[in-house]
Amino acid sequence: MTLRVRHLSRISLASLLLSCLSLAIIAQPKQDDRMKWFADAKLGIFIHWGIYAVNGIDESWAFYNELISYDDYMKQLEGFTASSYDPDAWVKLIKESGARYAVMTSKHHDGVALWDTRMSRLNTTDSTPAGRDLLKPFVKSLRHSGLKVGLYYSLLDWSHPDYPNLTRNIKRYTDDPERWERFMQFNLGQMTELEKRFSPDLWWFDGDWEQRAEKWRAGEIREMILDWNPSAIINSRLAGYGDYGTPEQGLPTHRPADKYWELCMTINDSWGYQGNDRNYKSPSQVIRIFAECIGMGGNLLLDIGPMADGSIPPEQAEVLKEMGRWTSKHRQAIYGTVAGLPDGHFAGPSTMSADSTMLYLFFPGDGGGELMLEGVKTSINKAFVVGNGTNLEVREYLRPYWSSHAGVYFIKVPEEVLDEKMTVIGVALDGKLATE
Ligand code: GLC
Repeated sequence: MTLRVRHLSRISLASLLLSCLSLAIIAQPKQDDRMKWFADAKLGIFIHWGIYAVNGIDESWAFYNELISYDDYMKQLEGFTASSYDPDAWVKLIKESGARYAVMTSKHHDGVALWDTRMSRLNTTDSTPAGRDLLKPFVKSLRHSGLKVGLYYSLLDWSHPDYPNLTRNIKRYTDDPERWERFMQFNLGQMTELEKRFSPDLWWFDGDWEQRAEKWRAGEIREMILDWNPSAIINSRLAGYGDYGTPEQGLPTHRPADKYWELCMTINDSWGYQGNDRNYKSPSQVIRIFAECIGMGGNLLLDIGPMADGSIPPEQAEVLKEMGRWTSKHRQAIYGTVAGLPDGHFAGPSTMSADSTMLYLFFPGDGGGELMLEGVKTSINKAFVVGNGTNLEVREYLRPYWSSHAGVYFIKVPEEVLDEKMTVIGVALDGKLATE
């Protein structure tokens, strides 16, 4: 039910068209420069941390969908202690996973700010036993470790007395320009605080679907952010005024139209911590999905949900550590690469070096034997196992002297060189990749 409500609001054709249009119009020459670190980064860690972790219920949606009353939802403020919060340990784990950036919820739709905003008392300093600014030490630690800083900020704020609605059924007003203006001043004030204190590299907006772009003043917000920091980047959820697409949960089956994109995905089925949700993806599954993303030229923003005391559940830490082993071993096939072969050439994900002369073919660790590569016209110089170095036997078939078509390559991969999760084969080409 919850899902249906979310999706109905998101998939409005008009807003889809609007975002495609504005993405195209806004693409300025400098965009590629601003997006460079993001395109090379491949992996980011998303963090949903908020009072919803106290009861372990849906972040903000629990009261919006009226599964719990607003007052009972807000009682969670009293249990949000952050007593075991160790931002340096979080950053260490994030870095170990191979992620190059993190995105933390500065404020979710419930309006509870994780920094000590002066715009309202609904923040962790003034209204929870945590009693302090939780963003500050995390951002400091990210910067110290050389990771890029992303801040999630919900445009809509169901708690704010001047926001038009509190839940799906409780409306405060429908049209009241004065109240809306007060709300906008509040939102703009919070964004200004976030910039002054943290100057994020990435603004990750959410909740835009409840109002139109003009109402959010999305264009103005974009200009304001780029005035503050000309190298900042913005996700697409600013009512179409962003820099890159954010498919949510659904892994695309073909390369998306957006030049830059990032799949945001939960580690189990929940964004925030929910003790009952045991549906964790295994490290192999996360790695497989990650490979699909980078093979189609995108990033993966993998979400974790810390507990109310600030500890990261061991199942989540385990996935990040396994990711780390794998991303470190296969780093040459990951960072700084571009999308690999188009559909139909290789039955699996692949990436390519930025200069197009090296292909990386990914296949699961339990499937040894031979790889088949189709439609590649450039001859293969050699094939080897990434992160291991073994040279492999390559044979070309279907390439008689009288045919101008590309042949079919078979690459033999002995079992002993397989990675237990996912193996990557490097294919060095005699020149730049040409396909049929
Ligand atoms: C959706 C949900 C929100 C979640 C976000 C993450 O927009 O509203 O709860 O934070 O997706 O991408």
